[in-house]
Amino acid sequence: MNVLVACEYSGRVRDAFARRGHYAVSCDLLPSEAPGMHYQGDVRDILYTYPWDALIAFPSCQFLCSSGLHWNDRGRGHEGTEDALAFVRLLLAAPIKKIALENPKGCISTRIRPPDQVVQPYDFGDDASKATCLWLKGLPLLVPTSRCHGRMVLQPNGKTVERWANQTDSGQNKLGPSADRWKLRSTTYLGIADAMGAQWGNPFL
Ligand SMILES: C[S@@+](CC[C@H](N)C(=O)[O-])C[C@H]1O[C@@H](n2cnc3c(N)ncnc32)[C@H](O)[C@@H]1O
Repeated sequence: MNVLVACEYSGRVRDAFARRGHYAVSCDLLPSEAPGMHYQGDVRDILYTYPWDALIAFPSCQFLCSSGLHWNDRGRGHEGTEDALAFVRLLLAAPIKKIALENPKGCISTRIRPPDQVVQPYDFGDDASKATCLWLKGLPLLVPTSRCHGRMVLQPNGKTVERWANQTDSGQNKLGPSADRWKLRSTTYLGIADAMGAQWGNPFL
């Protein structure tokens, strides 16, 4: 298959498809962090110019995710969110048979449509919790591969909850503020990337 992995600098999903013999190209405004087929530039440049069989897209969540939307009413304005939603609509409407679009929980669900699936990295072998929404067209739900069990933490209310390596005991993300925080948080987990390549790379789907 010809697979376009849009908005990906890590090369993780691209390589999961390429390892299985597909012609897979990642595309991002940034250079690729791993050697491989990569177009550095706007995905709209190449979306319509090649017979892609599948599009897997990871658009920026800065203006879309629940944790960032409150900035719209604190001086940032709403234009960024409207532009980001237009970009998501464009990707979902691309003339490509198989499309998956990934984003955290946010306003795509209310403004476009609810996700088809919400997956967790710990259901694909990674020691991390991060609710990850998937909007799918022509692709089946991703099937969990292996569950990574977290540590059990006793809460002040006496209840016990499960926490993973990227979480504090109260459930916050452990990463402190830093220039590359957004990058560390948005890199696709390897287990999910591999499941995408293995399951969606099946040409008989
Ligand atoms: C949330 S990150 C996704 C990272 C991805 N999960 C990975 O592992 O590399 C979103 C990415 O979209 C890229 N991006 C934003 N607008 C773009 C566009 N029009 N064309 C291509 N990439 C774009 C950004 O540069 C950013 O790296």
